[in-house]
Amino acid sequence: MLALATPPHGLTLLAVGVYSARNATAVAGRYIEARLGKPSLVRETSRFTVAEAIKHPVKTARRLKSKPQDALEGVVLNPSLEERVRDIAIATRNTRQNNGLYRNILMYGPPGTGKTLFAKKLAMHSGMDYAIMTGGDVAPMGRDGVTAMHKVFDWAGTSRRGLLLFVDEADAFLRKRATEKISEDLRATLNAFLYRTGEQSNKFMLVLASNQPEQFDWAINDRIDEIVNFDLPGLEERERLVRLYFDKYVLEPATGGRQRMKLAQFDYGKKCSEIAKRTEGMSGREISKLGVAWQAAAYSSEDGILTEAMIDARVDDAVKQHHQKMDWLRGEEEAKSLTPPPLSPLPAGVPGSGGKRGFTLPLKDTPRAEEAIAPVLDINLPSPSDGDQSAGGKRIDSTGPGCEAEAKTVKGDLNQDDGERKPDQTPPKDGSPV
Ligand SMILES: Nc1ncnc2c1ncn2[C@@H]1O[C@H](COP(=O)(O)OP(=O)(O)OP(=O)(O)O)[C@@H](O)[C@H]1O
Ligand SMILES: [Mg+2]
Repeated sequence: MLALATPPHGLTLLAVGVYSARNATAVAGRYIEARLGKPSLVRETSRFTVAEAIKHPVKTARRLKSKPQDALEGVVLNPSLEERVRDIAIATRNTRQNNGLYRNILMYGPPGTGKTLFAKKLAMHSGMDYAIMTGGDVAPMGRDGVTAMHKVFDWAGTSRRGLLLFVDEADAFLRKRATEKISEDLRATLNAFLYRTGEQSNKFMLVLASNQPEQFDWAINDRIDEIVNFDLPGLEERERLVRLYFDKYVLEPATGGRQRMKLAQFDYGKKCSEIAKRTEGMSGREISKLGVAWQAAAYSSEDGILTEAMIDARVDDAVKQHHQKMDWLRGEEEAKSLTPPPLSPLPAGVPGSGGKRGFTLPLKDTPRAEEAIAPVLDINLPSPSDGDQSAGGKRIDSTGPGCEAEAKTVKGDLNQDDGERKPDQTPPKDGSPV
């Protein structure tokens, strides 16, 4: 009997063996997956997979040899912001070299002001790998979001160079859990993200970019060590931007030799300053697009010559389009400010259910002085329907014998100019102020 109840040793060992082998395969699978595969949530990365390295060996070798570049090359910022982000870049690079803990950064500001551009440069400057994730990709993942999020961090943990994890449009999924209406799946994914970012890491650095950081969950704000505001370029920055993109899209191709583009003779420096003045309010992206528009104008012309008039015409177009966009934005903001906050409907018959709620009383309806002092003196005021209201309701009667004399004094004082007082007015029996 006993022999039947206890399995033979050989069988137990076999079971243990099978179980361990299965576990080992799963662990190895996860390890390989974390190392080789790019997680589905990562849109773009400087890390290359083994397959890519086999496919493009020259490119891979060049990338491995590449030296860290200037973090601010080709990024035009105002001097104070430039100084700040340069400090961040230097600190990040030193952190990487010393295997220290990375600081998490939030970059916010209007669209097209260089947030993504700088994040990529920062990664390259520090010698780290970078990976770009977009907040908008998270919600559509539904219940797979949690696993996908864990995969991103498992993968980030295997980077030898350290990974700058850039979450673009971060407000799309890092929203307030308590007040915003977010799905259960998104909430769970956000929790997974919070779990994996609870401690500062020496493996990855978090860089969040957003146009609306005020929508972040508070726990996210708590994880941010540095906040950087990217603003629209001022006049000087616009001039630098115009020159940068004029050089890139017009001068370089025109002087490169092999291109079809030619440039007419005029004072380029003066033209750039003039354009900078005309492009007030435009972002770096809008100015870079202007550069592309000049190039396209030259390529589409018969002789391939870009003239001053053609440049001016493109600027006119860009300015007009910018104003149009601003009008739309203003309209949107006005509509938002005019929309009343959502109200829970009042049951029919309840005062106010048919009309507006939350309005301010006109001044003439503010409490009268005697209404304010009535509870203090324990006296009754007549209801508005009693007698003459135009006199300001100055009739006050006593409520009880104990305060009669006092009340009478008040009554007398208040009635001095009340010629229309009706002596038969009696206070309510319950003594409550009216
Ligand atoms: N400060 C800047 N200096 C130089 N170029 C800029 C700057 N800002 C924007 N640009 C140009 O505009 C392009 C788009 O900028 P970028 O993607 O960095 O904007 P963003 O701030 O991330 O915008 P969004 O909030 O829409 O994501 C850049 O690739 C670059 O060509
Ligand atoms: Mg961006």
